[in-house]
Amino acid sequence: MILVGPPGAGKGTQAARLIDTYQIPHISSGDMLRAAVKEGTALGLQADSYMKGGHLVPDDVVIGMILERIQKPDCAHGFMLDGFPRTRPQAEALDTALRGAQVELDAVVLLEVPDQLIVDRITGRRSDPDTGTIYHLTFSPPPAELLAKLVQRKDDTAEAVATRLAKYHSETGPIVPFYDGMNILRRVDGVGEPDVVTTRIIAVLGPVVGRPSPGA
Ligand code: AP5
Repeated sequence: MILVGPPGAGKGTQAARLIDTYQIPHISSGDMLRAAVKEGTALGLQADSYMKGGHLVPDDVVIGMILERIQKPDCAHGFMLDGFPRTRPQAEALDTALRGAQVELDAVVLLEVPDQLIVDRITGRRSDPDTGTIYHLTFSPPPAELLAKLVQRKDDTAEAVATRLAKYHSETGPIVPFYDGMNILRRVDGVGEPDVVTTRIIAVLGPVVGRPSPGA
């Protein structure tokens, strides 16, 4: 399955919850690129300048990275993509690769959040560098003892967010009709408490993606 939505829609927040339910790996293109930047790999050096300004990393770089990742053994029973595809060429490359491997996508969840809520969500985001847990200073406050070690992403400035939102509408928007045409697009309201949003996603996915684990 794929999670799509504007920056700050809650894709990472929801993915962390959904992997417990569906027991499939969470593959975030943004997390993979940030890890490459941190490690200083060739891919990371190439991606860094694009990411800092809120621009998209070139398709050929990201497509290669993700197609390699989904061939790993832990993806044999399914996977959850977050942040990929986010252009029409990326969606087409994924489609070709999945057809070649005779793998069918079950669902593409589009988390819908209005632009005016995005800036507040993103500028208040902080994450734990050790566990990757995502917090928000107001909406999902961290425990007081963690506050000092939390970090803010380099692309979470108001200026970069404006660029990321514009790119989302111009570049990622066209993948929505692509998946709608395949009849696998599921629109989910991303406004509300995170638990409420999770319940909405499971409600649209339940019948199509595997089976939630007991107690979920
Ligand atoms: P990426 O890391 O994918 O960032 P993004 O898509 O901009 O999304 P975010 O991670 O900012 O937001 P999210 O939806 O995960 O929200 P979150 O759960 O954290 O990409 C970063 C960059 O990498 C791109 O700009 C690009 O340069 C590059 N890149 C990545 N993939 C690429 C690709 N395929 N092609 C080309 N370039 C690529 O939530 C945000 C905040 O809101 C948090 O503080 C959270 O606590 C809070 N929150 C979450 N849910 C709620 C809720 N329901 N109510 C209130 N607050 C909430």
